[in-house]
Amino acid sequence: MEFNVKSGNPEKQRSACVVVGVFDSRKLSQAGEQIDEVSEGYLSNLLRRGDMEGKLGQVLLLHNVPNTLADRVLLIGCGKERDFSDKQYHTVIAKAITTLNETGSMDAVCFLSELNVKGRDTHWKVRHAIESTQDTLYSFDQFKSKSEAARRPVKRLVFNVTTRKDLTIGEQAIAEGIAISKGAHKARDLANLPPNVANPSYLAEQAEELAAETDNVSCEVLDEKELQEMGMGAFTAVTQGAETPGKLIILKYQGAEPEKKPIVLVGKGITFDSGGISLKPGERMDEMKYDMGGAAGVFGAFVSVTELQLPINLIMVIAAAENMPSGNAARPGDIVKTLSGQTVEILNTDAEGRLVLCDALTYVERFEPDVVIDVATLTGACIVALGDQASGLLSNHNPLAHELLNAGELCGDRAWRLPLWDEYQEQLDSNFADMSNLGGRGAGTITAACFLSRFAKKFNWAHLDIAGTAWKSGKAKGATGRPVPLLTQYILGRVSS
Ligand code: BES
Ligand code: MN
Ligand code: ZN
Repeated sequence: MEFNVKSGNPEKQRSACVVVGVFDSRKLSQAGEQIDEVSEGYLSNLLRRGDMEGKLGQVLLLHNVPNTLADRVLLIGCGKERDFSDKQYHTVIAKAITTLNETGSMDAVCFLSELNVKGRDTHWKVRHAIESTQDTLYSFDQFKSKSEAARRPVKRLVFNVTTRKDLTIGEQAIAEGIAISKGAHKARDLANLPPNVANPSYLAEQAEELAAETDNVSCEVLDEKELQEMGMGAFTAVTQGAETPGKLIILKYQGAEPEKKPIVLVGKGITFDSGGISLKPGERMDEMKYDMGGAAGVFGAFVSVTELQLPINLIMVIAAAENMPSGNAARPGDIVKTLSGQTVEILNTDAEGRLVLCDALTYVERFEPDVVIDVATLTGACIVALGDQASGLLSNHNPLAHELLNAGELCGDRAWRLPLWDEYQEQLDSNFADMSNLGGRGAGTITAACFLSRFAKKFNWAHLDIAGTAWKSGKAKGATGRPVPLLTQYILGRVSS
């Protein structure tokens, strides 16, 4: 798909289709008015006749509109003008794209990017138009024998901006939108892959491939033996039960001078979480292929950042393993020694995410990070607390937490902070080891983060629990690509400040 920005008149576009908005009820947008004028009231006549109300998501496709140069004019209903904000904007862009795809318009000039979206500027509108477009066009059909792809899909989209001054802003926004979409796309593909394909070795190969084809990127993969020798007793307690070997995957991007402290992203990469000996119930267990959503998310953000070649240093670490029951699997009651030296009593083998992450967190100390953000589908409790709207955010550093919250608001991939008070820590007390991996009944998301915080004392750290946001269940089952936009937005903010 090719994207461009332009500042022109709707009636003068030589294109397969010009897309303009109509508000409820029957109110043409500015571009619509312009077409109406040159066509001597062609559009307003149709509206008056009742062909279109302008309700959100309505469409009306017109051919041969008098005195216009495009083959078609596509009217998109935008709902009430005063309600027009982020969500409505996404809806109308998505509607426009599906309609263009269905009607065989292979190129189009879209004037929806000119509409006023509450509190949003041109940069935001162009970037989000691209993200919404790519989001709408995404499909994961590589395992279907017959592809359901459109016969004549949109190939080239031009977004119109109001003034020529906006063109440079628009071009920057396009670059960001493309990079974020590419990262989110990668995250979705990795997460949607079945667990018999996307195992730890596959993730490692993907990282090596990315390093080979991207400037300033290098890759290192540690295998299970190396993890054991290093002393990652918690990580290997999870890997030991599976036939497929665990991996610690490290990608480094150097976009700034080497002295500059890196941003470090750590991802939970459980490629299938059966629960281990503390076996999960069977219902919807297939969705535990998404338990590497954190790994997919940091991988995607890494793709976005390297695509833009941002002037920062970034390190991504994925703790990849399968959590399986077997004769060699860890038992409830086992006590293991972590890389930090602290010991853990494993009371439930299904609380495996914190076991792989704690050793990965100790491991990244060696990079002397500026900040560390770990991303994990860590607790079912997070879905209970926040549903599928916000990712859970917990942090030992207020400025970092606020930057992440703000980044989420800006890009629409939101997080919500939960407390990490000391008082919760005692829920992790063990009679036999330094701590247990189980926090008891209440505040499951917080106690999981409390556990991790004990391995994040040496740096500014934030934890994103994406159990509710990484994928959708039910009929629309599939990975969302979150939190790629959030992470990329955070890093973009770090670059510009
Ligand atoms: N991967 C799960 C968390 C999860 C469950 C995410 C369902 C999304 C949907 C994690 O490894 C897990 O099993 N957590 C347990 C922790 C408990 C045993 C302390 C949970 O949330 O039940
Ligand atoms: Mn689990
Ligand atoms: Zn898990």
